[in-house]
Amino acid sequence: MKIALGTPNLISEKGEIVVIPVFEGATPQLTIPVEFKDPTIDAFLKDNPKFGALYDDQLFYLKSQKILLLGAGKKEKIKFANIEHWAGAATRILLTKSKRIALLLTPYEEILADQLIDATTLGVEIASFDLAEQYKSDKEPIKLTEVWLILDKVLSDHKDKLNTSKTIAEAINLARRLSDSPANELTPTVFLTEVRKIAKESLLKLTVIDEKAAKKLGMGAFVGVAQGSDEPSYMIALEYKGDLKSKEKWGIVGKGITFDSGGISIKPSDHMHEMKYDMCGAATTLATMAAIARLKLKVNVVGVMAVTENLISGKAQRPGDIVKTLAGKTAEILNTDAEGRLVLSDGLTYAQRTFKATRLIDLATLTGAIIVGLGDFITGVFSNNPAFATEFISTGARVGEKFWDMPMDEEYNEMVKSDLADLTNIGHGGSMPGSAGAITGAKFLEPFIEDNRPWIHLDIAGTAWDFKTKPYRVVGATGVGLKTLIELISHA
Ligand code: BES
Ligand code: MN
Ligand code: ZN
Repeated sequence: MKIALGTPNLISEKGEIVVIPVFEGATPQLTIPVEFKDPTIDAFLKDNPKFGALYDDQLFYLKSQKILLLGAGKKEKIKFANIEHWAGAATRILLTKSKRIALLLTPYEEILADQLIDATTLGVEIASFDLAEQYKSDKEPIKLTEVWLILDKVLSDHKDKLNTSKTIAEAINLARRLSDSPANELTPTVFLTEVRKIAKESLLKLTVIDEKAAKKLGMGAFVGVAQGSDEPSYMIALEYKGDLKSKEKWGIVGKGITFDSGGISIKPSDHMHEMKYDMCGAATTLATMAAIARLKLKVNVVGVMAVTENLISGKAQRPGDIVKTLAGKTAEILNTDAEGRLVLSDGLTYAQRTFKATRLIDLATLTGAIIVGLGDFITGVFSNNPAFATEFISTGARVGEKFWDMPMDEEYNEMVKSDLADLTNIGHGGSMPGSAGAITGAKFLEPFIEDNRPWIHLDIAGTAWDFKTKPYRVVGATGVGLKTLIELISHA
């Protein structure tokens, strides 16, 4: 999508359809610019005094101009996310209707231009993505190719901001495309092909550990999961060096289960198809690396992706098996469906020992329990370092991603100890089966963090994909976490 900045004098030239925000409860005369004053619109607003709730929409085909009035909610409640969603809704309404649209941003007068550009660019790009284009034979074709963001003044800084936001938005859509892709198409090998493309284009250093090499290196936890699948599996690392003077290195580690059947501890079949999304953490890791490289951030980062299927076969891991992790700790597999923590534990060790990551963030669709706890729109944050967690969560709030700090008290440690081995891969000893299930997932990972370096585990099981099409985004993967990661890393 072409997104460009313009000033109000360009509107009628550039905007085949002009989108104007209307705030709830505001006097509409104040938000509708004089040049669009029209008796039809006046009459409409007079008859609909409540018009203005977020996503309320009314299209006008006037003689002089086509106009979409789009509710923007209460003006005092405007935040980054509302503006992003407003722009997304405008885009989705007009996607098949118009080649060029102009979003009038001047009524958002109290919001900084940078913020407006960022939020609307993200909104437009995210709204234009729909993987169904690729599969449905009777889909109404998209007409929209050009979106103008209309501001009072356009400065050269604003153009930089636009380019940055576009890069981030395109990375989010890359993560979404990989995540939405079905597991028969997006096998670990195909995922690796996508990684190779990014590595080549962005000059990232790529290291690929196949299953045989993983076994040799001692990644017993990763191999235990991988062994049940006929598809080849890979532990993948992408390195970016943007600050040769610094010893600091971010490590981003993503769970990349391209399909999670549960293994021998098989999942119920009703929602099993959703488990194509069990690689969202790895997809976001890859897309974040791509964005970091394209933005040329002055930081060092390694992205580690543990990519395999969790399937069932005569070679599959059994409940009761004991595996030895790359770190040397042993784990008793009490449920083959708790595979995420296994592949991540080796990924975390690999990021620390081989790539010397000094500060770690892992992303994983790790537990159903986090959905029970937090629902579908807040991501669980687990950390060994409260200051790091606080910084991460407040960064998220700035870019419209919601996170919640979860407890990591020592009392939970007992729940992942095994009678025979160092750890068990499912929690036990609570008063209910699955007690504190998301926390015990994090507690399994914690011992793999060496020298107490700052670490955050993000359980994105509830937030990595959306069940419903929203006005601003089609059903499916969300690319959650990417915006916050980039915002955090670029201000490091
Ligand atoms: N990939 C699932 C977690 C999941 C469940 C993500 C639902 C999104 C929606 C993970 O591998 C898993 O199966 N976790 C188990 C852990 C349990 C066996 C301790 C779970 O949450 O049931
Ligand atoms: Mn599982
Ligand atoms: Zn899983």
